[in-house]
Amino acid sequence: MPDAWNFHSAGQIVFGRGARAQLGMLVARRGLKRVFLVADKQLEAAGQVGRVVTPLHQAQLEVELYLGGEPEPAVSTAIDAAAVARRFGPDCVLGLGGGSNMDLAKIVAVLLTHGCEPARYFSFDNVPGPILPLICCPTTAGTGSEVSHAAVLTDTANHIKVSTLSQYLRPMLAVVDPALTDGCPRQVTADSGIDALTHAIEAYTAIDFDQLHSSGGPVAYEGRYPLGECLAEKAIALIGEHLVAAVAGGNQAARDGMALAATIAGLAFSNCAVALVHALEYPLGGAVHVSHGAGNGLLLPFVMRYNLPARKAELARIATLLGENVAGLSEDAAAERAIGAVERIRAAIGTPQRLRDLGVKREQLSGFAEKAFAIKRLMDTNPRRPTQADLLEILEQAY
Ligand SMILES: NC(=O)c1ccc[n+]([C@@H]2O[C@H](COP(=O)([O-])OP(=O)(O)OC[C@H]3O[C@@H](n4cnc5c(N)ncnc54)[C@H](O)[C@@H]3O)[C@@H](O)[C@H]2O)c1
Ligand SMILES: [Zn+2]
Repeated sequence: MPDAWNFHSAGQIVFGRGARAQLGMLVARRGLKRVFLVADKQLEAAGQVGRVVTPLHQAQLEVELYLGGEPEPAVSTAIDAAAVARRFGPDCVLGLGGGSNMDLAKIVAVLLTHGCEPARYFSFDNVPGPILPLICCPTTAGTGSEVSHAAVLTDTANHIKVSTLSQYLRPMLAVVDPALTDGCPRQVTADSGIDALTHAIEAYTAIDFDQLHSSGGPVAYEGRYPLGECLAEKAIALIGEHLVAAVAGGNQAARDGMALAATIAGLAFSNCAVALVHALEYPLGGAVHVSHGAGNGLLLPFVMRYNLPARKAELARIATLLGENVAGLSEDAAAERAIGAVERIRAAIGTPQRLRDLGVKREQLSGFAEKAFAIKRLMDTNPRRPTQADLLEILEQAY
């Protein structure tokens, strides 16, 4: 059994308010000249595209702008974006936006390098080698895609989100400028922020490294290990401190804190793991109109309760990190406080709390449980091994 863990990241992370000014220099000094920039119309209208194109132009880079990005992008959108990119012939791809545009940029880079259709690369370790240099600039404080090895598309025909996971998908360069999140709409701030909290909590409560690593060979996730633990703790504390204020708006320190938290949570989950929350969100997000973050936030406390028997000490620690006073409480009671704290954050930022409020029909739940149960890598990373009936029970409770 291997006892050495790995830690992967973006090649370089540049973090700070105003960091985007360095973008042109950072790209040009790598000898790159032609940038295919993946963004969307809403971001252009919000002025964020211009803020990133200007430093690129100042460094004499040629930029082709693709504004066809969309929330939770469809597989067909990735095919379309790659076709446009191919005509331009870029030497690098830049994803500007939330997780949706960054993930789209990742898949475009894969398709330009290795050809074929996106489905060829779904699941883990199916990208055959390095991809075109990839740069990511997040405009939400949420997904951590700027450092992660994941790209998520929506398979509209089969009503499910589909992930491509490969260490080759880690961006060469992540420029995280919290100012790019300043104008992020309230609901997107809330949804993407609770997604970051889900990443940190799922990483922190994931199955232990030793238990996950039983077969050797490359793995999508390492499980819980010390470096990921440190990162998850820091992210949870930052989110406890800043998320509600960031959603309330007009608070630059809260925006900065959330931008940092989201990137750190991305490092934590993309090395340790995500688990049942994400598994259950994939069929949910494919079936009804709910953002990835809102779906995760809805499911998170129910999965925490299911995992409580296996992760009491960790949940008790999460309660403290989220600002709960657990002095004098038993471990069980302190762990319960973590669930309560997450529920209160969710209520304060106004994300949905029940599946029925999303228009889900009770008859759909067994199908969700079946599809989630089939995502084996996310069953493997959960600290408690669920049966399909357990998944249905969690969904019933969340209904
Ligand atoms: N690759 C990963 O590691 C990873 C991790 C988690 C989630 N995801 C995926 O990321 C997607 C969700 O990403 P998200 O939550 O960041 O939201 P998003 O990218 O879907 O963006 C939502 C909307 O907000 C707009 N927007 C974003 N930033 C803005 C800003 N600063 N100003 C104005 N408008 C802005 C966008 O234009 C878009 O219309 C989902 O598809 C999810 O599955 C990926
Ligand atoms: Zn997520």
